[in-house]
This record gives sequence, C-alpha cells and structure tokens, in this order.
Amino acid sequence: MSKILVATEKPFAKVAIEGMRQIIEDAGYTFALLERYTDTATLWAAVSDAEGLIVRSDKVTPELIAAAPNLKVVVRAGAGYDNINLQACTDRGIVAMNTPGQNSNAVAELAIGLMLFAARNHFEPGTGTELKGKKLGIHAYGNVGRLVAALAKGFGMDVYAFDPFIPAEKMEAEGIKSIATVEELYRTCQYISVHIPATPETKRSINYALISSMPQGGTIVNTARAEVVDEEGLFKAITERTDLRYFTDVAPDCLHRLANNVGARVFATSKKMGAETAEANINAGIAAARQAVDYLKNGNNRFQVNR
Ligand code: 3PG
Repeated sequence: MSKILVATEKPFAKVAIEGMRQIIEDAGYTFALLERYTDTATLWAAVSDAEGLIVRSDKVTPELIAAAPNLKVVVRAGAGYDNINLQACTDRGIVAMNTPGQNSNAVAELAIGLMLFAARNHFEPGTGTELKGKKLGIHAYGNVGRLVAALAKGFGMDVYAFDPFIPAEKMEAEGIKSIATVEELYRTCQYISVHIPATPETKRSINYALISSMPQGGTIVNTARAEVVDEEGLFKAITERTDLRYFTDVAPDCLHRLANNVGARVFATSKKMGAETAEANINAGIAAARQAVDYLKNGNNRFQVNR
C-alpha cells in the first residue's frame, strides 16, 4: 500500500493526528508518523518509501527529495513554504502545496497577545500603556494581517496597512487605511505587525532605516519569519533608540546579544508557537491530509505552489 508520511519535528496536537490518520487510512493509504526527530537521517529513512509527505516548518531539501524516490506530493501544513526547496520538487515532478489560511487565526491572536505583552511590561508590575488609539501598521494584508487588523480595530486601534498586492479599495472597504509605501507605514505607526513571507526579495528588508524611522515608542511584532528582519539593522536601531521594542515569535540569531544590550525591550518566544493551537493544528493538519490524498487519488493540484 502507498504511504503518506507525516513528518513534523514540532508535533501536531493528538486530535489533529487522529483526524489525519483517519483521512489517509480511509482513502486506502498507509499512515506513517515521525515526530520530534532530531537528525535529518531519520527523516530521510522515513520518507524513503513515501508517496506523500506532510510537514510543518520541516526543511524539504534536495537531499530529502533524493532520498524519496517514490515521492509525488509534499504538503506544507501551514502558510509559509520557504522551508520547501521548490526547484528540487519541480525538477522531480513533485507537486508542493500549502494550506493557506488554515492556521491564520492562531497566529493573528498571538500577534495581538505580543502587542499586549509589550504594552503591559511583560505583565510585570508597573504602569503600561493601552493599545486603544495607537496606530498599528499591518505589513502585508494577507490572511494573517487581515485578521490582526480586524482584532486590532476591536481594541480601538487606528489601523493602517501596506501591501502592494492588495487593492487600496479592498482595505478601505474593511476600514483599514491603505499606505502606499513601506517607508510611510513604519514612519507613521507606533506598532507594526509583520506578515510578509520570507522570499529573496523580502529577506532582511526590515532594515535599520525602516526600524529607526518609527515614532516614539515604536514596537515591532514579528510573527512571520526571522529572516525578513536585518538583524544588524535591528541591533543598531534598537541600541541607539532606547524607546524601540521588538517582540517576536521567530527569534533572531542575535537574540542573546540583543537581550544583553537592550533587556526587556526585546522578547522572543522560546519556540515558534503562533500556529500552536488545537484549532490551527486540526485545520491545517486535516486540510493537508485531504489535499495529499486528493492529489494522489484524483490529481487535484489546487494550492500547488511550484507551478
Ligand atoms: C506558517 O507558515 O503556517 C506558520 O509560520 C506556522 O508554522 P509552524 O507549522 O512551523 O508552526
């Protein structure tokens, strides 16, 4: 029987796994599970006879593809697919997919949580500030950015967004002020919530100039990807300006150096946890299992990202 492997270093909730197992087995495939693996050799061995592979942020490298001669489909149970080497998939005729939108709400709620955590001094004693009335800049108005914007409006924030791929009218219709340039967004807003994917164009694009242009008390919340921030630029800006803050779910490499220098103005979760809710695990996991089966059985390649 053909095998679909669910390989996640960071495990899904049990309830999500059971749902995925059921979908895969009901479709007549063997369900295999590899969680919390600590070396790539274990992953390569597990995928060696798989036709389908479901991952989270796990790296799908050319070496992994080479170790999987039967592989036909890789589904990233989540939104960002910067962990998948698309060229290696394409070269082998393997379809790569994501499950857009399925875990967005969890990430959006965490972004708001990080804003509150920053505004209220890490929930430590002392006088904080309120989100109400503050300007929030949504850096990319995709699935997560849009949800953060809606939640922030509920807190009474004044919400702006920059996204060259979304028409201004769509944002304005949803009560969001569309901003024409990323420079203006950072210059205008006390809070920035980052939602850009990591691509060659976006990597290190949040640089010294942008960060240091923020108004007094500027706070960047990054629940997207560490690589989109230029770490040296961040280090310089936040060291020079003692009012700036950086709260993130995707820790920068220089976290310890930063924390030693600027203390509590920098905060990072100990492991990326934006999508770590039962609901997000179920939504993304089930969608991934359905998409893998539907491709292998029926050739449905909706959500393919390597066309
Ligand atoms: C995503 O791109 O879907 C999120 O960053 C979640 O990633 P994770 O599955 O590794 O938690």
